[in-house]
Amino acid sequence: MSAVSSRLPVFPWDRLEPYKATAAAHADGIVDLSVGTPVDPVPELIQKALIEAADSPGYPTVWGTVALRNALTGWVGERLGATGVTHANVLPVVGSKELVAWLPTQLGLGPGDTVAHPRLAYPTYEVGARLCGANAVAYDDPTTLDPAGLKLLWLNSPSNPTGRVLAKDELVRIVAWAREHGVLVFSDECYLELGWEADPVSVLHPEVCGGGYEGVVAVHSLSKRSNLAGYRAAFIAGDERVLGELLQIRKHGGMMAPAPVQAATVAALGDDAHVAEQRARYAARRAALRGALEGHGFRIEHSEASLYLWATRDEPCWETVAHLAGLGILVAPGDFYGPAGDRFVRVAFTATDERVEAAVKRLGG
Ligand SMILES: Cc1ncc(COP(=O)(O)O)c(C=O)c1O
Repeated sequence: MSAVSSRLPVFPWDRLEPYKATAAAHADGIVDLSVGTPVDPVPELIQKALIEAADSPGYPTVWGTVALRNALTGWVGERLGATGVTHANVLPVVGSKELVAWLPTQLGLGPGDTVAHPRLAYPTYEVGARLCGANAVAYDDPTTLDPAGLKLLWLNSPSNPTGRVLAKDELVRIVAWAREHGVLVFSDECYLELGWEADPVSVLHPEVCGGGYEGVVAVHSLSKRSNLAGYRAAFIAGDERVLGELLQIRKHGGMMAPAPVQAATVAALGDDAHVAEQRARYAARRAALRGALEGHGFRIEHSEASLYLWATRDEPCWETVAHLAGLGILVAPGDFYGPAGDRFVRVAFTATDERVEAAVKRLGG
């Protein structure tokens, strides 16, 4: 048996454990701003929908209930501005991480094929390439990549970890280039609802894709916008040929969202009030942490959207991690997201108001 795990990078979070222990020793407890997991309650209307669907003895379908597909096409039209979206253009997934990790395998990619991702990126894009034996390449500008063998191009706007947003013109240019070269674009837009100093645009917007979805797919998740990371609720939307193929494979693979989660997703997508409420919480935490970090000598780059501040003291990232751990604050070192991040840290503002206040105080704010 060949160990598939031997193709994968070392799970990086284990390297943070000693710093976590240092931060946890703080007299007033740790402020964990490292992982970026939601901490606020699941909105009541979503919990209610989940509970009402608790009696679900039968198998759910991979494509989802008609109600779910209607909710997905409706949201994609209203929120992203996409036009002419039908059920053939949407597909639920079991949280977007599994999709990111297994997409290259499900697309039939393998040795000799290339998957491209941003230079600083969520590590799972590379993991997905490695799982199927494809090459992963990092880019600064995807239109400078060699298109030979390039089968899948990942975009991520707003970006994890930098919070950078790709302007509409950049998306137009990239999509045109990818179509010209027959490269499939998957645009991970899971932070789209979390723009602060920018208004992120979807790859499905008609001014980007021209109103047709050939060669483009957007990835959306409810984990952050609706505090649903625990439910595993996400979906993809776009090119019906690609989604039709994935649907077949995922049916055989049994990759179906649980029926109560499907019902909860319908409720979540039908309500904007909880998204606005959650955004207000994050905006306040972001402003407090940003001010405190700058007052403490940090420089913040990008960070115009997402749940993170991309911060530097112009020193190696592990020195910054150690310094903050000494104050009882845990952050993620930038090199988790690629060597280009080795002088930055990623500060998530997904802690409670009380913990954010504690961090601000410790930073001298
Ligand atoms: C860029 C990006 N994509 C995808 C995910 C996965 O989110 P989920 O699996 O909760 O949908 C994350 C999670 O942090 C992320 O940062």
